[in-house]
Amino acid sequence: MKLLKLIAPLCVITTMLFAQSAFLSKSAPLYTEASEGPALGELVVASEVKTLSTSGDFTEVEFVGYMPEGSTIAYEKAGVLMVGFQALSPSAYKIIGQKKDEYDTVWLNVSVKGFVKTASLGADKSKIIGAGKALFQSKCGTCHALHPEDEFDANVWPSILVAMSAQAGLSGAERYSIEKYLQNFQK
Ligand code: HEC
Repeated sequence: MKLLKLIAPLCVITTMLFAQSAFLSKSAPLYTEASEGPALGELVVASEVKTLSTSGDFTEVEFVGYMPEGSTIAYEKAGVLMVGFQALSPSAYKIIGQKKDEYDTVWLNVSVKGFVKTASLGADKSKIIGAGKALFQSKCGTCHALHPEDEFDANVWPSILVAMSAQAGLSGAERYSIEKYLQNFQK
């Protein structure tokens, strides 16, 4: 009993420290409630979220990111065009601060909370990125040789992928999966 009293608080602290973050294993709608009702927008594959609670098949999550003023797209980092969340309306976000990047551009630090299907979350980011790598290798070397991952930086790949998804007939989900692989390769 004494041992249990010692261990229980330790378990709580461990959960608080380590068990609160997860990654999108695929792009998924962020719902206002724990059901497939109205959505606030879409969380993009490989983005990190804090998990807050679970309710049936859904997990309540918070995404914290950065966006230029007036945007509906929040990025994972200030100054890097790695899409984290695409809101249907700017009002989905709560502004929690702001930050200037190296070019003096102001990025709003924003937070958005809602519910995702627990099946769209994963704990292992490298596995999620690995799926993007496999897609890159199978879809991007058929017309020309595979371009090296480090040929362009994280802010240039997105516009190339817009052009190449049209060429390769990629779905939005496939495009983001490849995009996140190439962007994470850069770090
Ligand atoms: C259907 C054929 C086809 C597929 C599939 C394809 N590409 Fe291309 N790609 C092209 C053609 C044609 C060009 C040269 C003309 C152009 O830039 O549009 C090109 C050019 C490029 C360039 C050079 C662009 C530059 O500005 O230097 C890159 C990088 C590239 N592709 C990456 C990719 C990636 C990544 C994929 C997978 C998502 C892909 N390609 C899939 C046809 C294809």
